Amino acid sequence: MKKNSPIGIFDSGVGGLSVLRAIHKHLPNEDLFYFADQGHVPYGQRSLEEVRRFSIEITDFLLAKGAKIIIVACNTASAAALHHLREKFPDTPFVGMEPAVKPAAEQTNSGVVGVLATPATFQGKLYASVVERFASNVTVLQNTCDGLVEEIERGTLDGENTRQILDDALRDMLGRGLDTLVMGCTHYPFVIPLIEEIAGINVRVIDPAPAVAKQVEYRLESINAKSTGNAEGAIQLYTSGDAERLASLLPKLGFENFPVTGIERCFLSTTLL
Ligand code: DGL
Repeated sequence: MKKNSPIGIFDSGVGGLSVLRAIHKHLPNEDLFYFADQGHVPYGQRSLEEVRRFSIEITDFLLAKGAKIIIVACNTASAAALHHLREKFPDTPFVGMEPAVKPAAEQTNSGVVGVLATPATFQGKLYASVVERFASNVTVLQNTCDGLVEEIERGTLDGENTRQILDDALRDMLGRGLDTLVMGCTHYPFVIPLIEEIAGINVRVIDPAPAVAKQVEYRLESINAKSTGNAEGAIQLYTSGDAERLASLLPKLGFENFPVTGIERCFLSTTLL
């Protein structure tokens, strides 16, 4: 294991950049290689089987680029594939996303928490298991926010349709006394300002990214693989979609212009879009 090798991170699209941002803040000397599978976004309506196949191919790609650890910065891919990735790549450390139901259940005063995530995440065993283990004493409301991932991929973080989707998702939850809301999809933290505007100051929004960044540090320490560099880590993005489009989206998401490389890849499955 080379300490100064990059951390590999992936998502269906730009969502995992919310996790990359937290990792870069917490571990600024690490090089970060990020793969956005924008040729196949959204993952949320695909079968778990298909997302699993994409996840394996992307992991292969990032490992070939020298990644020392893989961060599955996508709740959907974590639900569909994390377990299989660990089996298929037994020598590779992985950190995945788990819906932050546990901190939500601990922090709620009203006893009503909400989770926003994709349909595939709600179907996965991981979600059922965190709800069963940590949320038996609270009411958990869920919503898939259909179309929200697509709006965020377009960079429309506060457009009319984006607002409508969130209004629809939150209205019922707020009416039922929700006071804690979990971002169960890594795309959704990009619309937290809008969520806070709609939900008001009495609703606590939980973005798991800072906790995931700490978990990445812990995993790297446990295998003695933290970077020894002093310089700011480099960030390199890859996309299976349009590299120019991704580059032009970055400022809208609050990032500077990182280098973006388009990757032509022959995935096993046909595209949804
Ligand atoms: N960002 C992803 C997640 O955390 C995937 C969203 C999608 O592609 O549907 O679930």
